[in-house]
Amino acid sequence: MSQRRPDLPPANGPMSRGESVAVTPMPTPSARPMAGAAPRAQASGTSSSNIKASGEVTHFGYQTVAREEKAGKVAEVFHSVAAKYDIMNDLMSLGIHRLWKRFTVEMAGVRPGQQVLDIAGGTGDLARAFHKEVGPTGRVVLADINSSMLMVGRDKLLDVGVAGQIEFVQANAECLPFAPGSFDLITIAFGLRNVTDKDAALRSMYQSLKPGGRLLVLEFSKPIAEPLAKVYDAYSFSLLPMMGKLIANDAESYRYLAESIRMHPDQNTLKGMMETAGFERCDYHNLTGGIVALHRGFKF
Ligand SMILES: C[S@@+](CC[C@H](N)C(=O)[O-])C[C@H]1O[C@@H](n2cnc3c(N)ncnc32)[C@H](O)[C@@H]1O
Repeated sequence: MSQRRPDLPPANGPMSRGESVAVTPMPTPSARPMAGAAPRAQASGTSSSNIKASGEVTHFGYQTVAREEKAGKVAEVFHSVAAKYDIMNDLMSLGIHRLWKRFTVEMAGVRPGQQVLDIAGGTGDLARAFHKEVGPTGRVVLADINSSMLMVGRDKLLDVGVAGQIEFVQANAECLPFAPGSFDLITIAFGLRNVTDKDAALRSMYQSLKPGGRLLVLEFSKPIAEPLAKVYDAYSFSLLPMMGKLIANDAESYRYLAESIRMHPDQNTLKGMMETAGFERCDYHNLTGGIVALHRGFKF
C-alpha cells in the first residue's frame, strides 16, 4: 500500500477545501462477540504477528488476523486507495460498476421526500444518484468509516454542485449513529465485505430503517458458471494487482480486494444472514453472471 496513513483517523475534523463539515463521531463498536463471530484462534496459518488477548480472529483477505486489527487494516487500504479509487473502479470494471449502481438505484425505487442512507458510501456515486430521486424535500446521508474516502467523495460532490444537500457522516456500519427508524432506504455498495462483524452491521441497518423500509446490498459475489469463475480468478489475481501497481503504485491493496471478494459469503449465505438480522422478503439478483449480486430485504 503506497501512502500509509494512521489507522483510524479522528472522528471529527475539517474536511478538505477549507470548509468544515458536521462529521458524526463514531461510536465504539461493541466488544461483545456477536452472532456469527469468527472462531477463536485455532486456525492454522495465522499470519498476524500478535493475536491479542481476546483470541478472537477473523480474516483480512486470506490472512487470519486478530478481530480488533481488521478495521485498522481495512482503513489502511482505503486511505491508500482513496485518491485513485474512482479511476481504478472504472478501469478494473471497464465502467461496468456504473451499470451495477444504476440497477441498484432502479431497484431502490426511491420516491421524492424519502430518507436515504448510503453506508460505506465512499466517493458518493449512489448518494449523488439518490439525491436526484429524493428531491429537495428528501434527505440523503453518505456515511463511511474512512475519512479519506469521505473527503474524496465530498470533493467530487462539491464539483458537481450537490455536496451542500448531502449529509456526510463518519460512521461504522456495525453501530450506526442514527435513531431507530430513521430511513426509508439503506444501501451498502461494495462495503459489507470489508466490515469485521457483518451480522452486527446488518442488525444495525435493520434498526436504523423505518418499518416498510428496505436494505439493498450491492457486493461482489460468486460467479454462477465455472468457466466464468476461472477467467475471473485469473483476472483478479494477476491483472488486478498489476493494474493497482501501475496506476496506484499499490499492488497490495488490490490483492486484498481480490482476496476479500473470495472470502465474502456467497449469494445464499448472505441472504440467510439478512434473514437472521430480521429482514423479510429477502431476494437477490445476480449481475454479470454472479460476479456481483444485489440483495434486497425489507423491514415490516
Ligand atoms: C470498495 S469501497 C465502496 C465505495 C462506494 N460504496 C462505491 O460503491 O463505490 C468500500 C467502502 O467501505 C468503507 N468501509 C469499510 N468498512 C466500513 C465500516 N465498518 N463501516 C463503514 N464503512 C466502511 C470503506 O471506507 C470504503 O469507503
